[in-house]
Amino acid sequence: MAGVLASVATFALVGLDSSEVTVEVDVRRGLPVFTVVGLPDRAVREARDRVRSALLNSGLDFPQERLTANLAPADLRKAGPSFDLALAVGVLLATGQVPRERVRGYAVCGELSLGGALRPIHGAVAVSAGARRAGYDRLVVPVENAREAALVPDIDVLGVPTLERLVDLLRGEWSPEAAKPAAPPGEPASGADLADVRGQGDARRALEIAAAGGHNVLMIGPPGVGKTMLARRVPGILPPPSFDEAVEITRIQSVTGLGDGRLASRRPFRAPHHTISASGLIGGGVTPRPGEITLAHRGVLFLDELAEFGRYTLEALRQPLENGFVEIMRGQRSL
Ligand SMILES: Nc1ncnc2c1ncn2[C@@H]1O[C@H](COP(=O)(O)OP(=O)(O)O)[C@@H](O)[C@H]1O
Ligand SMILES: [Mg+2]
Repeated sequence: MAGVLASVATFALVGLDSSEVTVEVDVRRGLPVFTVVGLPDRAVREARDRVRSALLNSGLDFPQERLTANLAPADLRKAGPSFDLALAVGVLLATGQVPRERVRGYAVCGELSLGGALRPIHGAVAVSAGARRAGYDRLVVPVENAREAALVPDIDVLGVPTLERLVDLLRGEWSPEAAKPAAPPGEPASGADLADVRGQGDARRALEIAAAGGHNVLMIGPPGVGKTMLARRVPGILPPPSFDEAVEITRIQSVTGLGDGRLASRRPFRAPHHTISASGLIGGGVTPRPGEITLAHRGVLFLDELAEFGRYTLEALRQPLENGFVEIMRGQRSL
């Protein structure tokens, strides 16, 4: 017997960007099993249980049939729980619980709780940037991520609190307004001030020039002369980020889960401990994540006690310093 096939668009984080993933769901007669294929990691395979409970707890049907979900393209590694929502919508479509025509033009991305609430995801800005590039008019994300995702222009971002609400939306029974872009938090808290430093005129002048021109600085001197103190005060003399820079900073923080859902109003200041690994500094991992260099983008990366850092770690800085960007190779892909 022919099965019923449904497909839903979602986006997977790839470095600081996102790439389209099509979730296909096939329902056919057979023993009730739910299989997910297409290079899913553990969290994606666990989505089966979340999707099932979320549907049932939202008063929707979960079919007692054989369900197969495929995440395409199959050669892209799918990590994390943000595929839950697309899988749930795929099941709803394949079982005729929401009309197909309405889902076209939508991309969806979100994690589900067992109760059917949409839980916030990492990298909402990267997801909406990918969705806009792929030509989607509307993106559904958890309501907590909506204003952040709306930082990307020319795509309507719909913040949805629960699966039940999403079903109302897809059935045309609820039409929420598109989210407004995130605003920066009020007055940025004033950090430490360079004015606290007594004397050290030359060092201060050097830091001012470096701050103005975006140069690197190496401070050498005996203990206690104020090197750490000076370095920690550099963010205080940097201009506030422009809107585009703030969006870039927010996007990086959001991918690593450091953001607070608002627009970054300050430049980052990163001071990793000297025991940090090369991949912690440069970025890396099986599913590549940005490192401290990237987290300090448009701000300050401060390596206190430079001589204590591992030789290999410091050597790894050479290429990013010369090229001005970080490149991470994973198999056939480079980010
Ligand atoms: N020029 C200075 N003006 C004011 N305080 C200073 C100055 N130099 C050193 N200090 C004081 O000494 C402390 C130690 O300085 P620190 O920045 O840790 O030195 P270093 O990193 O060069 O070893 C600072 O926290 C600060 O209280
Ligand atoms: Mg020091």
